[in-house]
This record gives sequence, structure tokens and C-alpha cells, in this order.
Amino acid sequence: MNHRDLAAPFAQSENLAGLVARRRPGYSLEAPFYLSDAIFQADMEAIFSRHWLYVGVAAEVAEAGDYLTVDVGGKPVLIVRDDDGAIRAFHNVCRHRGSRLCAEEKGTLGNIVCPYHQWTYTLSGKLIFADHMADGFDLEHHSLKAVHLKNLAGLLFVCLSDDPPADFDDMAAIMTPYLAPHRLEECKVAATVDIVEAGNWKLTMENNRECYHCVANHPELTRSLYAYSYGFSPESELARGVAEYDAIVKDSHARWEADGLPSGECERLSDVTGFRTMRMPLIDSGQSQTMNTEAACTRLLGDIREAASGGLSFWTQPNSWHHFMADHIVSFSVLPLTAGSTLVRTRWLVHRDAVEGVDYKVENLTRVWNATNDQDRRLVEESQLGVASPAYRPGPYSPHTEMLVEKFSQWYIDRLAETLDGA
Ligand code: FES
Ligand SMILES: [Fe+2]
Repeated sequence: MNHRDLAAPFAQSENLAGLVARRRPGYSLEAPFYLSDAIFQADMEAIFSRHWLYVGVAAEVAEAGDYLTVDVGGKPVLIVRDDDGAIRAFHNVCRHRGSRLCAEEKGTLGNIVCPYHQWTYTLSGKLIFADHMADGFDLEHHSLKAVHLKNLAGLLFVCLSDDPPADFDDMAAIMTPYLAPHRLEECKVAATVDIVEAGNWKLTMENNRECYHCVANHPELTRSLYAYSYGFSPESELARGVAEYDAIVKDSHARWEADGLPSGECERLSDVTGFRTMRMPLIDSGQSQTMNTEAACTRLLGDIREAASGGLSFWTQPNSWHHFMADHIVSFSVLPLTAGSTLVRTRWLVHRDAVEGVDYKVENLTRVWNATNDQDRRLVEESQLGVASPAYRPGPYSPHTEMLVEKFSQWYIDRLAETLDGA
């Protein structure tokens, strides 16, 4: 897509390049970025068609033939495990007359059979059956169109571009040692919850990148978090306890690293494939993000022996965040639906041998984040209603608690700018 294409639908009312160029660092974005259908289309092209997107976990396609579908802004994608155990992604579009192949969100297949005229593809995308076609019709030239897929220690990312950002491999090299001890591939999905937020996807992401709002809005989540880990102003009450908190982090990191759990912060949010990670202690030697801060599942994950191993958080641009604890993992993906609506999918994972009702209870496992998600949904929806007012003007981010919101907003603007420049 060239500059003119990207900006064209928007040009009559505002100029996208002008809005990108005049973005004021340290301030929230101008209203059209949250409201305009044309900018939404530009986001789908410049961000969601070019970058690595988190879409699910390998545990959802545990066996050959298991599949998962995802719709990326009107581009349906099929993820399937083939007979050799490889996880592949294809455009979920038949090579005959284009029917969507799999309509369900997940399931199990022998071959991929189009429901329309039964063209049949193997799990590795090869067309093996097409009835009534002309003499000389070549099955080999009608394989499914592949989509780039990467499996990062059990987290599945796809990229719809023919030329995906190469720095995914840098992220994978850094993140694999952090994630591997939790052995995500040996987990099962204990629960999945979808919510549709009536807000632009960037409001969902901005809200995720700060915890300024946590004390006032998340009574369940803050039971297990140190307030210091949210960020604080040097003048605030909180600042007095910071030396103590820093000592707890230092001690905890030394202990966890000795146990084989990488813990130190790595912040690469400005990279093309931007991300950040850190293992943080939970309050008072808490074990998990639960109401009583105790593990929600008695069967610990992978190589982890100590229930109080904190929470490893992993945030990615543009659309995910994850919390890896000793007993469970909670993982979030964000998919824009329209300029004013966004799908947030939350998955909770436990060890695949854990038995529901014996080792864990779904209600206890999911309670904190179900409550938190609903609170975040309301915050995003109120923001969407506010930014739609003519009275809205970009407001200043806190330099103490919203640094990562700024990193997200600037990452987004940089991606639009490079798409516009690349025309
Ligand atoms: S559209 Fe798929 S077989 Fe005809
Ligand atoms: Fe929140």
C-alpha cells in the first residue's frame, strides 16, 4: 500500500501524514486516531497487516489436525497442526472460489475440506482433491496460501506480510530463556473468555501499559501486586517505601535466577517487534494473581519448584500481554474489530496433568482477571466516549507512571510514519 492509498480515505477531512507528523510526544493521541474509520483502515494495513501478532497458544492445537481460526481485520487465518507435528498458518480462504474453509473458532480435522465444493487440502496445505475440473487442472498450483507463523516457547504469532519484521528472532532469542521454564507447551487451556470492548484498540493497549489506574479501579488485582511496581511519583507517600521494595526485587531476582528463572527487566518496546519483560515479586511472598495470593493450581508448571516465584510479565507491541506464574499463565490478545470496538481474548493455562476440581477450580483461577478485565473494559469504554467529544484534546502522560503508554503511542506513530515514508 502506498502513501496515497494509506492516506486517501482520510484526506477529505484530515491529513493522516499531518496528524502523524504533529504528534506531540508525552501526550495522548489526537481524537481521529481513536474515531476515524479511515485511520482504522490505515491501522489494519500499517500495523495489523505488517507486524507480528499474538494469536494463541500451541496448547490450542495440541494434536495433529487441531485447528484454530482468527480474523485479523477481515483477513481470516487458519492455524493447524499438521501430521508431522508442525504448526502452520494459512489464509482461511479456498483456492477455488474463495469460500472460507473453517467457520468454527477451533476444532479437529483429518484433511481441510472446503464446505462449498469439497476441494480437499492436506494439513500442510496441499490440494489433493478437486472434482469436475478441466483436463490438465494442476492440483499442485492450488495449495493454500501460507501465512508466516512463529512459535515462541508455545506462544503463537502470525504475520500477514510477505516480508515480516526480521527482529522477531531477536525477541525470541531474549524471551525463550524467560518463558521456557514455565513449559507452555505442556499446559492446557483451562478457560478462555472473550470480551468486546466498545473502544478503539489503541485505548485498550494504552490502558494495559499503565497501572496508574490500578489502585482506584482494580481491588482484586491489587491484592497480589506491590503498589511500588506500578510506578510512583518521587514526592508521593509510596516513594518512602521504594528502597525496601527495590531490596525485595533484588533479593527475589537473585533467588529466582539461582533457580534457573531469568528475572531482570528487558525493555525493547521501541523495536519494530517491540516487547518488554520482567519477573516481579507478588506482595508478601504471594504466589499468584488470585484473591488470596495463593497458587490457584496445586500442580506447578514445568521446571518450577517454588510456588512463590513471582510473576513474569511479557508485553508485546501491538497486541498482547501475558503473566507467567508458578502455577498458571494468563495470556491476553487484542484484535481490533472496528474503529470503536475491540476483541480482548483471555486464556488461562495450567499444567496439562492438573485435574479440574482437584488441583484447581476455574472460578478461583479466573476470578481476578475476569473482574479486572471487566473494570478495564469500562475504563476503555468511558475513554472512547470522552475522546469522541469535541472538547477532547490530547492530555499529558505522567512521567512516573505512564512511560510505557508513551512507548506504545510513539511505537504506533513510528510504524504509521514509516509506512507513509515507504511509499
Ligand atoms: S469455493 Fe471451495 S471448493 Fe469451491
Ligand atoms: Fe487495568
